[in-house]
Amino acid sequence: MKRVLVTGGAGFIGSCFARRLRREHPEVEIVVLDLLTYAGNLNNLRVFDADPRFRFVKGDIADPVAVKDAMEGCDVVLNFAAETHVDRSLLSAGHFFDTDVKGVFVLLEEARRTGVERFIQISTDEVYGQILEGEFSENDPLNPRNPYSAAKCGGDRLAYSFWASYGTPVIVTRASNNYGPYHYPEKVIPLFITNAIDNEPLPLYGDGRNVRDWLHVEDHAAALLFLLENGVPGETYNIGGGNEVENIDLTRKILRLLDKPETLIRKVTDRPGHDRRYALSTAKIRALGWGPAYGFEEGLSETVRWYQENEWWWRPIKQGDLQYKAWYEKNYADRLKGATSPS
Ligand code: NAD
Ligand code: DAU
Repeated sequence: MKRVLVTGGAGFIGSCFARRLRREHPEVEIVVLDLLTYAGNLNNLRVFDADPRFRFVKGDIADPVAVKDAMEGCDVVLNFAAETHVDRSLLSAGHFFDTDVKGVFVLLEEARRTGVERFIQISTDEVYGQILEGEFSENDPLNPRNPYSAAKCGGDRLAYSFWASYGTPVIVTRASNNYGPYHYPEKVIPLFITNAIDNEPLPLYGDGRNVRDWLHVEDHAAALLFLLENGVPGETYNIGGGNEVENIDLTRKILRLLDKPETLIRKVTDRPGHDRRYALSTAKIRALGWGPAYGFEEGLSETVRWYQENEWWWRPIKQGDLQYKAWYEKNYADRLKGATSPS
């Protein structure tokens, strides 16, 4: 591993991966290719400010010219770049397919041309769809149920097809819900933490009994580094935290950690097609020797503390960014009118 391309490296997970890669491999050259959409943030990459072995390229993974420039000389590629928010995909999905399918195609074409040694496509557990009992294994059928997960499913299978058709050394990973520092405050954990800090309502969808399996972002980054060394091309690996929590319990935990009242909770109109539960079997990656280091209670309390101590990072997004305000109004204003607190 000499030069690593991290696409989407200004986002939540990609930046965590890049920072961890630098800590564990000081000698490696890191190139980040990122379009800096609303979710991309150069503040996530501040540790690289004076790093001579770091290069940032602003560009679109669906643009072959930008991709050729960024991938030059790289032996390893990890594709984190994506449109990632389910709620946004439900309101407008076109650009999800531009990035999450066409963008993956452009990256794969260039990787095939240059002959990279590893290409990791960061997929998601959402490609399986919901599961009411049991756990999904890597060979289970895919059944995405919202536009975001359908687009990710396209990228997931496209990446596999480059292995099957051309021998491009692709590994596909499917992780569960990540949480941790630098998480954009549209996703439930950072949204609820920052709303609660400001005594704003927490809009809980539906009956609040949907279940997610929470994976600390550092554990996800560690798993990806582990798979670079131990994963087998052509294979898919689930990465889960083993922390299934109902949304209502998650919300109560956050409020307790912040010493805020449950009267901040508002039960609001559900997300259309809201997947009830995700759960992954991680037997395959565990058999190779990886397991998560974080317990959920510890990880969540550290995360809450990080948001309390790093208002410099999230306040400009929530209060200064008109795009964020417009999104919040569009997704929540009607929902919050007349919504009630369950307590
Ligand atoms: P994020 O929204 O925080 O970051 C996405 C990054 O991609 C941003 O920096 C954005 O600017 C960049 N980007 C978007 N479109 C681009 C384009 N066309 N060209 C170049 N850059 C572009 O997302 P995240 O939560 O860090 O997720 C990273 C990856 O992990 C995604 O592929 C996502 O599907 C996958 N994933 C996320 C989770 C999760 O819980 N967050 C779980 C499993 C898988
Ligand atoms: O499972 C992996 C996926 O996890 C990733 O592929 C996605 O990129 C990532 O965004 C995440 O998707 P979710 O839809 O599960 O995450 P989100 O934080 O949007 O929602 C988590 C749960 O919280 C879900 O059941 C919906 C609920 N929710 C979410 C929001 C934003 C609420 O009740 N209220 C909210 O305001």
